[in-house]
Amino acid sequence: MNIAMLGSGFIGRFYADSLQGYRSKDKIVSIYSRKEESTKKFAKDYNVGFTTTNMEAAINRPDVEVVCISLPNNLHEEAVMLCCKHKKAVMTTKPLGRNAAEAKRMLEAVEKAGIFNGYLEDLVYTPKFLKAIESVKNGALGRILWAKSRETHPGPHSDWFWDIEQAGGGCILDLGCHCVEITRSYIGKDIKPIEVMCWADTQVKPIDAEDHAIGLVKYENGSIAQFEVSWTFRGGLDLRDEVMGTEGTIWTNNFLRTGFEMFTTGKAANYVSEKAESDKGWLFPVGDELNELGYNHMFMDMFQSLEQKRQPKETFYDGYIVNAVLDAAYKSAKTKQWEPVALDVWRGKSGYTKDSHLQEYDAENYLVKEEVTHYGAKKVILKNKKTGKIIEKVLD
Ligand SMILES: NC(=O)c1ccc[n+]([C@@H]2O[C@H](COP(=O)([O-])OP(=O)(O)OC[C@H]3O[C@@H](n4cnc5c(N)ncnc54)[C@H](O)[C@@H]3O)[C@@H](O)[C@H]2O)c1
Repeated sequence: MNIAMLGSGFIGRFYADSLQGYRSKDKIVSIYSRKEESTKKFAKDYNVGFTTTNMEAAINRPDVEVVCISLPNNLHEEAVMLCCKHKKAVMTTKPLGRNAAEAKRMLEAVEKAGIFNGYLEDLVYTPKFLKAIESVKNGALGRILWAKSRETHPGPHSDWFWDIEQAGGGCILDLGCHCVEITRSYIGKDIKPIEVMCWADTQVKPIDAEDHAIGLVKYENGSIAQFEVSWTFRGGLDLRDEVMGTEGTIWTNNFLRTGFEMFTTGKAANYVSEKAESDKGWLFPVGDELNELGYNHMFMDMFQSLEQKRQPKETFYDGYIVNAVLDAAYKSAKTKQWEPVALDVWRGKSGYTKDSHLQEYDAENYLVKEEVTHYGAKKVILKNKKTGKIIEKVLD
């Protein structure tokens, strides 16, 4: 497929490496960036025929079949609207919008225009995540009770991230968007996020936005998600997730401890991995960053979905839900209260109650626990549905 790439910076280049290096069927034919020298450099590196500093000109070309948006957050909406105008399939990096209102406008516009829309949330396509979610979906962990995701690093690489107007927020928006979609996927994307409680502060950097935050997201079925995000963490890029259910647990570490450890005095120092803080001493390189961070599997899903005229796993609708959760987090950080997630658009399930998941033992009782003791007795502990009384039975 022929692609117009909007943005030739950090993520535009990761995407280009993944698209042209791996899937090979796809070709970037048009590149837009703010500065002419960046477009020319990108065009040389990726063998792109058309370069421009005019966004619409990059999109509105007969050979362009799909547009990949890799621009600062404040430019996503403008770019999406141009894709709608010219009826081009569109894929947008995270976060979809600076807030849910922007995200909703983009969602409504692509659906009205009837164009393919993909939300490029790479961290739900990492090999570890794909394996873990398969186990979760097969029921290996039972009902998911708690999902936690952490993304922390020493702060982003470009000026606009640090400007609250252009970025729309600090680390909650920049990194929390990943964590919310990871934990939401584990809990179930059809389960409604209902309330958020969040602490946020600007502990280190001289900026208007937050550089550190911790939040809890309550889901309608009683599950809880937790995000931990920071632009003040020292030591590289920490990407860790945990998920716990009634039958088991999974812990994954995507970056700093992947089983690849190296020591060098610094002789012939080289690039180690994203946000690595040192290139000497003990290092934790990442074998294949494009793959470990999910870019390859993400584009495989996006382009195959586009070819097969179906929806990808992550769409603008998902981006909108993430923005709505993060809006509630920002509100809670100010009010210091649980804040409701305002969802004008909700396409999942509704109506869970507190008792929806109690496990039946028999007609009269719920099961609390069963256990085989060290002296060989098998016991069940039960709760009577009517009286609430707790009893135990020793089985043969
Ligand atoms: N893992 C991920 O999914 C991931 C990682 C990093 C960034 N991102 C997202 O990608 C988008 C771009 O981030 P990046 O890290 O590539 O940024 P960057 O600063 O490295 O690149 C931004 C690109 O946009 C272009 N641009 C056009 N108009 C601009 C303007 N007015 N101001 C600044 N740049 C302008 C720049 O020329 C540059 O090519 C953001 O939405 C960010 O959140 C996603």
